[in-house]
Amino acid sequence: NMPKPYQRALTIPPVLGPKRTVIDADGQKHHFYHIVQKEGTGNIVPGLSTPLLTYNGSFPGPTIHVEQGEKISLRMDNLLPLTHPQLGHVLSTSTHLHGSASLPQYDGYASDVTSKGLCKDYEYPNFQPARTLWYHDHAVHTTAQNVYSGLAGHYHMHDPVERDLLPQGQFDVPLTISDAMFAQNGRLAYDDHTRSGLWGDIILVNGVPWPVMKVQRRIYRFRVLNASISRSYNLRLSTGDPVTMVATDGGLMPVAQRVASWRHASAERYEVLIDFSKYRAGQRVELRNASNKNNIDYDYTNRVMAFDVTDAPVDTSGPAARTMPTALASSTAMELKAADSVKTRRMRLKRDGDIWTVDGHTWQEVVDSGYQKVFADPDLGDVEIWEMENSSGGWFHPVHIHLVDFQILSRNGRAPFPYEKGPKDVVYLGEGETVRVLMKFEHHRGRYMIHCHNLPHEDHDMMAQFSVGYKSG
Ligand code: C2O
Ligand code: CU
Repeated sequence: NMPKPYQRALTIPPVLGPKRTVIDADGQKHHFYHIVQKEGTGNIVPGLSTPLLTYNGSFPGPTIHVEQGEKISLRMDNLLPLTHPQLGHVLSTSTHLHGSASLPQYDGYASDVTSKGLCKDYEYPNFQPARTLWYHDHAVHTTAQNVYSGLAGHYHMHDPVERDLLPQGQFDVPLTISDAMFAQNGRLAYDDHTRSGLWGDIILVNGVPWPVMKVQRRIYRFRVLNASISRSYNLRLSTGDPVTMVATDGGLMPVAQRVASWRHASAERYEVLIDFSKYRAGQRVELRNASNKNNIDYDYTNRVMAFDVTDAPVDTSGPAARTMPTALASSTAMELKAADSVKTRRMRLKRDGDIWTVDGHTWQEVVDSGYQKVFADPDLGDVEIWEMENSSGGWFHPVHIHLVDFQILSRNGRAPFPYEKGPKDVVYLGEGETVRVLMKFEHHRGRYMIHCHNLPHEDHDMMAQFSVGYKSG
């Protein structure tokens, strides 16, 4: 009774509104949100119910929309059971808003966990350019299990530039791709005995196995998030037509890029426009996965979802309904020049026995130092180049640097892929690859994490911290 492709309709997670909104002393809107982390169930395997961990009972979590410049306080209540009902670990959680330059105390620091029955208030500044962010659990050593069990949701920050350029409302569609394995009783199966990752045989989009979405004959915007804990995808349309890439992790790209396919690792966000007006009503266009090196494939992991083109009346209201935008917007990260850099740091991501390390560093070492040990200490305002190398065979690592947006300068000495020519906070570090990224350490002083976003790697123990604005001298 395992699910098969294209049997069910795509669903869109609910939008969460604020509990209340006040005008702060500085005249800015300040919204107060409330999310309860609690057990829930999903109807994923036909006829069976799947126990999940959820934000507000929804899988994936509800989407939050905010306008640039408006503040958000988010109360996160941990009403989960003391231990995970199937996996047994303690369910103390930490929430990270991935893509936000949050103060360190609100950044979901792995060891800053909130125990059962307690809550934490997070503050989000939302001063950055419009982007697709996502919030997810970041609890030390158990992030993989917790995200896999359901603790992830979208957070969209809008600004006037993006509102004018790209499709909005029902034509601005969040797509959270993940993969899973199910036991015969419908429960999620989790097997990470190799500590190298988990590759499921069922592909979910917004929690639905290989869904189908009905579309009008116009341009749509898809905010694609890979929330799989390990799997990376090589996405493309079944027609062979290119998509138009308009935004990366940190928001709009300077120039839209037409690409026939793209590699998409965990935690990366790519916003793509697809023009369905060139297809006839009744045609099915699939989003397929051609797979990347070092993933494990199953019968249907080459499929993701399908779009059924309809003859419904076309709503052409709003921007980019009929014509693809070309010039978009620049941002601080994309305007940096390599010559602005004051330091180049080189680091290797590699396996040491059954432990994964960031240049030999592990999170355990941070814990053992009383959270003092940092492996890099840029000053506030410093621009640096980090050169990251994955020379070990057999693995890829999506490397995420908290706090910053970076520009990818090169991969193996060559230009980055066209679809990577936008602000990023995760970079795909494939087997045998060396990537150089350029960034400015700004906005906040404090300690922030860097880690692999293959979550079993992060949990065992490929995570380190750097400090901003506190030179160790
Ligand atoms: Cu998306 Cu440190 O995480
Ligand atoms: Cu990794």
